[in-house]
Amino acid sequence: MKKALFIVSFLVGLALFAWFNKPKITPYYTQLTKTHVGLRTDLQPKSQKDATFVGSGKCKKCHKEHYHDWKLSRHAKMIQAIKGDPDVVVADFSSLPKDADFTLKDAVYTIGGKFKQRFMISAIINGKEDYRLGNYQWNCETKKWQSFKPYKYWYKHAYPHDNKKFPTSTTCDGCHFTGYMASHKRVEKGIACESCHGPGSKHSEEPKNPIYKASLADPIRTNEVCIQCHMRNRDKRLEQNSTIKSLWMQARDYPDGYEPGRPLVRYKMVAPFILGKETKEFWANGAAKKNRTQGNEYVRDAMYKHGITCINCHNPHKLTNTAQKTEGNNACLKCHSFGSVIGPHQETLQAHTHHKANSKGSLCIECHMPHTGRHTGKSPLTVRSHQFAFVSPAQTKFYHMPPQTNACYACHKDKTLDELQNNLKTWGMIEWDNQEMKSYGVLEAKSK
Ligand code: HEC
Ligand code: HEC
Ligand code: HEC
Ligand code: HEC
Ligand code: HEC
Ligand code: HEC
Ligand code: HEC
Ligand code: HEC
Repeated sequence: MKKALFIVSFLVGLALFAWFNKPKITPYYTQLTKTHVGLRTDLQPKSQKDATFVGSGKCKKCHKEHYHDWKLSRHAKMIQAIKGDPDVVVADFSSLPKDADFTLKDAVYTIGGKFKQRFMISAIINGKEDYRLGNYQWNCETKKWQSFKPYKYWYKHAYPHDNKKFPTSTTCDGCHFTGYMASHKRVEKGIACESCHGPGSKHSEEPKNPIYKASLADPIRTNEVCIQCHMRNRDKRLEQNSTIKSLWMQARDYPDGYEPGRPLVRYKMVAPFILGKETKEFWANGAAKKNRTQGNEYVRDAMYKHGITCINCHNPHKLTNTAQKTEGNNACLKCHSFGSVIGPHQETLQAHTHHKANSKGSLCIECHMPHTGRHTGKSPLTVRSHQFAFVSPAQTKFYHMPPQTNACYACHKDKTLDELQNNLKTWGMIEWDNQEMKSYGVLEAKSK
């Protein structure tokens, strides 16, 4: 009898011990083991197929909390009407240069205002009512006006080199107005409910009619509601037979016709990247040179492949984890734990980072999400990389990237990349240089 009691309490103790010491990733087991349906399966509920866009006002009635969270986020504020609320203008119009082709009075909408602010002005283009962009943009980081010629960055060979003839309908509005991507109607300003949940008329009339929720099926596909916008791309028609000239005045910079749940791969052509080659959007190792590259980088990361999604780190309504407002190491340590199966494989923070626990050098994102990109040519380096795998000083050197895009160098500008690489070696964080380079495909790139 005593023996049985002993065995039972031993087993209970063991179970409790295992429970309290379980890796933090355990609750994500269901997500990480979900079936992958592939990129081409249509996940949109049938009854949503002939639904129309109704705007967030309808959703608010029954989903007050989500509406409230979303309303306070920047998604709700991407496009703002100036009339009636001049406070939405963060630019200083008193210093607008004399050769500006617009005034504050001409501007109908502001675009953004966190890193930069641009202005939409009514115009007739191609015989249709449309909007054009002002030839100056406000850089919020430097607090200066900067010349802006969109045709230099958006399909140089498909649009006239004249701001007054450059329409926002084909080049911007699909990502900045709800409904425009699928219906070519500016149903609502900014990124509202239906940008991520799809048209909601049927569901609003009768909640039993399902509406798309990205986290229900395959986690790989969950990311698509975000990367429809947060990913650099090219007009899909260029993948088939079209040439850029044949798309004169119609080249689209968003996945035209896409609705959440549908297979994004049918609508989007990813901006090209070849490892070892620097392009206008990426450094030679694939890290972001510009903003809006989160998707391009993330789909190459091991976390993406294992089924971790954008919304594991960013609440889709509140938009948590933003510049100047991160969750700190908790953003990562809700899944990662020291000595756990998914790493870091060392027993303590200090043993992993080789910096004091309270040092800036022990913040996960400082080493795993270095600042590699800029919002404009004149902006400071503030865009954080979404390739989470650590990039060593030897790699940035190998790829001829500016040294300040390396995490170690960014904080230790008094040292050389070689010295910093040596520190890593001394710490035992780099096992075999060749081995490491091989895992990044460097040797393959070299032999080509
Ligand atoms: C008349 C009330 C009502 C309106 C209007 C409404 N909803 Fe719902 N919604 C519900 C109810 C009730 C549920 C729960 C349904 C269930 O569990 O079967 C729900 C569930 C949802 C879900 C979760 C679906 C899932 O599969 O888990 C989403 C997403 C959603 N609504 C989005 C929206 C959006 C976006 C709008 C506006 C276009 C909207 N709703 C308008 C009542 C409403
Ligand atoms: C940027 C994309 C995005 C926007 C905008 C957005 N949602 Fe969602 N919403 C999601 C995702 C993704 C989920 C799934 C979250 C999860 O499973 O953790 C979700 C979940 C929901 C749910 C289900 C919650 C649950 O617990 O199952 C409701 C209801 C909902 N959203 C309503 C809304 C309403 C109403 C709006 C507009 C006011 C809105 N959403 C705007 C992406 C978005
Ligand atoms: C329809 C296009 C669109 C979709 C869909 C979209 N975004 Fe965004 N997102 C934007 C734009 C545009 C901004 C910039 C808003 C601004 O600065 O005013 C932005 C900003 C953000 C920010 C920064 C917010 C801040 O406060 O600085 C985060 C984080 C973000 N998005 C995450 C997501 C995630 C996660 C998803 C998917 C659940 C998603 N977005 C879906 C267009 C989109
Ligand atoms: C494929 C979708 C897409 C297209 C097309 C697009 N944008 Fe954006 N834009 C985004 C997303 C997503 C963000 C926020 C993420 C980021 O900047 O990293 C953003 C950010 C911005 C910002 C910065 C917002 C801020 O608060 O600092 C401005 C300004 C902007 N876009 C203007 C434009 C203009 C002008 C066009 C057209 C000439 C355009 N965008 C086309 C998706 C798009
Ligand atoms: C493993 C966690 C993680 C994942 C996965 C992740 N992000 Fe992030 N992301 C972050 C953190 C942390 C930051 C804030 C960094 C900082 O302090 O500037 C960030 C920053 C951003 C920003 C810039 C916010 C701003 O202030 O303008 C955008 C936009 C964004 N993420 C979108 C995405 C999208 C879209 C995806 C999916 C393709 C994604 N993220 C996946 C952790 C993540
Ligand atoms: C929702 C859970 C989750 C969150 C949050 C999370 N991770 Fe991960 N992470 C994983 C999983 C699962 C893997 C895959 C482990 C493997 O390959 O064995 C992983 C792998 C990694 C890897 C190694 C492989 C690679 O190339 O990415 C790094 C580095 C990493 N995570 C860093 C981070 C950082 C930094 C953050 C915070 C900004 C973070 N993770 C947040 C779950 C998470
Ligand atoms: C001082 C820089 C630095 C900081 C800060 C840092 N890491 Fe790392 N991390 C590294 C290096 C270096 C590697 C090893 C890279 C390699 O071997 O390719 C690494 C590897 C990893 C890996 C891959 C698995 C492993 O153990 O090798 C994960 C997961 C990881 N880090 C997560 C984190 C998390 C979570 C944090 C925050 C608690 C963090 N790191 C903070 C430098 C750092
Ligand atoms: C976010 C800033 C930051 C990052 C990123 C960072 N460090 Fe540090 N580092 C510091 C600070 C601050 C100290 C001062 C001592 C401390 O806090 O531990 C330091 C101290 C050191 C020291 C010991 C003192 C010295 O100067 O010789 C070495 C060596 C070092 N870091 C190398 C690295 C390497 C290698 C990397 C990349 C893996 C790195 N650091 C990444 C901020 C950083």
